Amino acid sequence: MSELQAPKGTFDVLPDKEADYSEVEAVAARVLGRAGYARIQTPIFESTELFARGVGESTDIVAKEMYSFDDGGGRSVTLRPEGTAAICRSYIQNGMHKLPQPIRVWYSGPFFRHEAPQAGRFRQFHQIGAEALGSDRPELDAEMVLLLAEVLEELSVGDLRLRLGSLGSTETRLTYRELLQAHLRANQDKLSEDVRSRIDVNPLRAFDSADPSTQEVMATAPLLLNSLDSVDAEHFQVVRELLDAAGVAYEVDPRLVRGLDYYGRTVFEFTSDRLGAQSGVGGGGRYDGLMELLGGPATPGIGWAAGVERILLARDQRDAPEPSCDLLVVALEADRLNDAFVLANLARSQGIEARLEVTGRSVKASLKHANKIGARGVALLDSSGDQLKNMDTGEQIAAESVATLLDALRGMMVQ
Ligand code: HAM
Repeated sequence: MSELQAPKGTFDVLPDKEADYSEVEAVAARVLGRAGYARIQTPIFESTELFARGVGESTDIVAKEMYSFDDGGGRSVTLRPEGTAAICRSYIQNGMHKLPQPIRVWYSGPFFRHEAPQAGRFRQFHQIGAEALGSDRPELDAEMVLLLAEVLEELSVGDLRLRLGSLGSTETRLTYRELLQAHLRANQDKLSEDVRSRIDVNPLRAFDSADPSTQEVMATAPLLLNSLDSVDAEHFQVVRELLDAAGVAYEVDPRLVRGLDYYGRTVFEFTSDRLGAQSGVGGGGRYDGLMELLGGPATPGIGWAAGVERILLARDQRDAPEPSCDLLVVALEADRLNDAFVLANLARSQGIEARLEVTGRSVKASLKHANKIGARGVALLDSSGDQLKNMDTGEQIAAESVATLLDALRGMMVQ
C-alpha cells in the first residue's frame, strides 16, 4: 500500500456508497422542499472570527476543534465546523431581511472538526441541515423538530429517541449560571479535572460529563428548566402541545446541553440506540440572539443539523444493489471500433445505459465481464455479422443494422 493515505479521521465516499449519500440528500430535499425550504450553499471556509463569535470561544469546537489557517494574505480562515453561523452571515450579507419572512433554507455538505476519530466521529463528515430565520413563534420550533423526525423516518433510521429541552432567555441563563456555578464550587472536589477547570467559562457542559463522580454531583444540580420565566415556559408548552398533536414522541430532558453557545429557548436532539458512544444523529435549537451577535438586525432563528454518516450507520441495513447496465458494446475487430463507439453513443442518446468495452477482451472474456457488470445485452460487432446476446436467456440474434440491434435490446429490456 502506498504511504499516501487520506488524513486520519477522513474517508473516501466510494462509488458503491455514493447512492446512500445521494438518497439522504434527495430525502432532505423532498421533505424540506414540500415545507417551503430552499437549498442554500455557503463557502466551505469562512473567516475564523465568524465561528469564534457565532459558535462561542468557550465551546470545544472553537477552543480545540477548528481547522484554521492563514489564507496567505494575513487573514485567518477556518474550514466550517458547522453551518448555522454561516447561514446567519449570509442572511446579513445578502440583505435577506428584505425578503418575506421567515427565510426557510436547507443545506448539505462536508464539515470539519479536529476531534479524536472513533466510530461515528470523523474529522471530515457530512451534515444535512435546515434553518428558519425571522420568526420566534413556537409553531416554527415544532415544525423544525417534526421535519427532522420525518427525514429520519423516511431514511429508516431506527431506535430513535428525541430529547427536548428549553434554555430560556439570556437573563434566565445568566441567573441560572450563577446558581449552577455555586453548586459546582460547593462540590469541587468531586468533579473531574476538566469540568472543574471550566466552572467559570462553561459550567453547563458539566451535564455532558461521562465521569461518574461528576454525574453524581450533577444529579442534584439545580435545573434551568425549573427557572424559566412565564413567557419562555409558555413558549415551551406550546412547542410540546404541537408535537403532541402531531404524534411526535419525545422526552423532556432538563439536562440536555448542546455543544454550541448560541442556543436559547428550545433545544432538541435525536439519538439512536443503534449507535455507540457517538449516539447523536441530529440536533438543533433556537438561536434568537445569534444574528445580532454577528452584527445583523435582531432576527430570531431556529434550525438543526444531522450527521449523514450517523444516519447511514443507524438506518435499517439493506442489501447492496446488484450491479446493472443495459448494454455492453464490444468491437471484436479493430476496424469496428468506430461503429462500436457510434453505437454506444446512439444508445445513450436514446436513454439506454451503454458501456464500451475498452480493454481488447476476447469474446469469452467480454461475456464474463458482461455478467460481472450485470449487462442485459452485449453487442458483438464483427465482420462476419453483428450479434446481440441476451445475457438473461443466452439467446444470440443477428442484427442487420444498428436500429434493429437497439430495437431488439429494447424488447429484451421490457421482458
Ligand atoms: P451539532 O450537534 O454540533 O450541531 O452537529 C449536528 C450533527 O452532526 C450531530 O448530531 C452529528 O450527527 C453530526 N456530527 C457532529 N460532529 C461530527 C463528527 N465529528 N463526525 C460525524 N458526525 C458529526 C450543529 O452543527 C448545529 N449547527 C445544528 C444547528 C443548526 N443548530 C441550529 N441550527
